[in-house]
Amino acid sequence: MKVKKAVIPAAGFGTRMLPAAKAVPKEMICIAGRPAIHYIVKEAVDSGIEDILIITSRGKTAIEDYFDYSPELESRLEMSGKTDLLNEVHEIAEMANITFIRQKELKGLGHAVMHAKSFTGDEPFAVLLGDDIMRSDVPVTKQLIENAEKYECSCVGVKCVDSSDISKYSSLAVEPITDKLFDVKKLIEKPTPDKVLSNYAILGRYVLTGDIYSFLENAEPGFGGEIQLTDALNALCNKERMLALEFEGERFDSGNICGYMEASIQLALANPEVSEWLKNYMKGLTL
Ligand code: UTP
Repeated sequence: MKVKKAVIPAAGFGTRMLPAAKAVPKEMICIAGRPAIHYIVKEAVDSGIEDILIITSRGKTAIEDYFDYSPELESRLEMSGKTDLLNEVHEIAEMANITFIRQKELKGLGHAVMHAKSFTGDEPFAVLLGDDIMRSDVPVTKQLIENAEKYECSCVGVKCVDSSDISKYSSLAVEPITDKLFDVKKLIEKPTPDKVLSNYAILGRYVLTGDIYSFLENAEPGFGGEIQLTDALNALCNKERMLALEFEGERFDSGNICGYMEASIQLALANPEVSEWLKNYMKGLTL
């Protein structure tokens, strides 16, 4: 089994980032100098992915523009001798083979992933949610791919979250293989307190086999009336092996204002161009 393709669902409304997300896709909101989705595409590329499908929707053409060439801008930068910027802008369009598809009706994450079937065919593929940004030594998607390829099955990225937060995520029933790797037995999306399976939750990264599509195609609307990827994963893990990896690294949900601010500060601190300035600035704040 070899994972060479990735799917980035980025079609959602982004209601938690309104009013900014009314006119700017939340995936394009700037975090430490780059749009959020830049970090996600980079993680996929750094994980050995060659082909990427980004699922967008109305009002999100800025994502396509960002990963395209920009001839007028590039010739202006060339004329003014701004070679470093020119190279950086040009290289963004060459990061990966990126194609786009539109989800015309926003019926949920599972419905979005269904749009990838013609792109992936029966091959296994990675899914990186468009607003979950990771900071890790080894890219999180690479960590999942290594386990999916080794055990030849799906592998989802999990962390143990606080009991007060589990109702915002999917909750998993798991059996340990090692202290970080688990067999997945059952999943439930956004459980009420009496339905929580454990505090392990999937945080925005998956490697899935092509078998997921048969369950997505037959899925009934679940939590919130949406086609939930979690429901299809629950059916898939009844049919074939599925792993959960407690990945190494930190995850920021840039789709809400606090997660966005955490990501902005942490990624700026990791960026040598601005980290010293930011540290000095924060030291000087009277709180
Ligand atoms: P979220 O629920 O985090 O994103 O979905 P959202 O719907 O954009 O945000 P809120 O809740 O309204 O603030 C998780 C991921 O699934 C994608 C989103 O773009 C995000 O990356 N998604 C969600 C789709 O692509 N299509 C959908 O119909 C729903």
